[in-house]
Amino acid sequence: MLKIAAIGLGSRATEYLTIMQLLRKKEVEIVAVCDIAPQVLKDIGDRFNVPENRRYLSADALFAEGKIADGLIIGTQDATHVEIARPAIELGYTILMEKPISGNYAECVDLAKRAEEKGVRIVVCHVLRYWDYYQKVKQIITSGEMGKLVTVNHTENIGYFHFAHSYVRGDWHVEADSTPSLLAKCCHDIDLIQWFFDKPAVSVSSLGSLEYFCAKNAPEGATEFCLGGCPAKKDCVYDAEYHYITSPLHKSTFVKFKKRRLTGKAGATKADIYEALRTGQFGKCVYLHDNDVCDNQTVSIDFGDGQTALHTMTAFSKGCFRSCHYMGTKGELVGRHNDLRLNVFGKYSRKIGRKLGHLPGHGDGDVGLALRFLKILGGEAENLDDVTFIQQTLPSHAIIAAAEISRKENGRRILMEDFYSQSL
Ligand SMILES: NC(=O)c1ccc[n+]([C@@H]2O[C@H](COP(=O)([O-])OP(=O)(O)OC[C@H]3O[C@@H](n4cnc5c(N)ncnc54)[C@H](O)[C@@H]3O)[C@@H](O)[C@H]2O)c1
Repeated sequence: MLKIAAIGLGSRATEYLTIMQLLRKKEVEIVAVCDIAPQVLKDIGDRFNVPENRRYLSADALFAEGKIADGLIIGTQDATHVEIARPAIELGYTILMEKPISGNYAECVDLAKRAEEKGVRIVVCHVLRYWDYYQKVKQIITSGEMGKLVTVNHTENIGYFHFAHSYVRGDWHVEADSTPSLLAKCCHDIDLIQWFFDKPAVSVSSLGSLEYFCAKNAPEGATEFCLGGCPAKKDCVYDAEYHYITSPLHKSTFVKFKKRRLTGKAGATKADIYEALRTGQFGKCVYLHDNDVCDNQTVSIDFGDGQTALHTMTAFSKGCFRSCHYMGTKGELVGRHNDLRLNVFGKYSRKIGRKLGHLPGHGDGDVGLALRFLKILGGEAENLDDVTFIQQTLPSHAIIAAAEISRKENGRRILMEDFYSQSL
């Protein structure tokens, strides 16, 4: 039996535990869980039948037991990944760590070094690399069918309501408490771009700002809370009461299902949600909040030898989806949401079929990653070259860190060799 422990029992860690238990029931035992929220610890502990004496309210308490599992999932929020991973490395856990590693690049490198010194493996949850959509992209690029890859355009369309929930009102709205929005939202995209070019970036430049979700755009007379008598409430698309309570089901976005996050209660009632919106961060006006992360940003990456990429992150889209365009000398791959088409110039155009349609867990990426992690733990993983070990994800974290320096200096071109020599 492979023994699994998990710290931070939110949506991500729970997803991996569920996949492991559903699909590998006979091989996996969930032996310990940890969360700072007592109710969450109870709910998840009960759901996975974890013994009472193996439920911990702090990572320190779990680590005090020594190494009690083979694999450890770190599913806490961004700013805590490194501090939790350090003692886990010392104990020799094989780690499945949610992305991003850290907003501080030197810290990422230090963590990778510690893991290497201890002979410990850390797999970073770049789930999109395990989705057969992007695996197909990688295969086609590598096969040479579209010639030399010259240009990549990626756009992360966050969705206006998703941005308001997560980056204006929610967990990623203040950079100092979490990470820049580019790192939180687009480290997957930059990781994919890096993976597709498969060579070090030469330089990076970036432009971006918090353009819209700030006081200059507040409607006249706007109140701090939407339920505080705001005169603009009726016509405001960001009205918290509409987003979290009254929107009809067909219009309700995933935000309507975030009741526990809003209230801190497992079985929250409508009254609990109203109470949370009257006084809590999710009920505040999106123009008068304390958010400081960018709502739009572009990153240009020069990979040398005429190869470049442009990534755009934007809050300003109706839906949440990625669009991508990979341009080679002999053909192109055009992707939007779940569709992907290969056009080989003057020859043929082919829709790229995939095993699965769109599942909630990043296509089949969450499943692919969770099962791959189990294979690594069991010593069965055949080809480790394409696993997102921490060492493989350092280059994309470096590009993002360099992009943030560039953005703060109005798009100054940052040579990666200068970035590495100055940040390490
Ligand atoms: N791979 C992906 O595609 C993907 C998608 C979304 C989020 N994420 C990342 O996954 C991480 C978790 O996101 P989530 O949405 O599951 O968050 P969440 O808020 O739902 O869950 C985090 C949990 O960690 C607990 N926690 C916080 N600090 C803790 C500590 N010090 N010790 C123990 N428990 C602690 C919280 O009580 C909470 O239950 C974040 O870093 C996020 O950026 C990754």
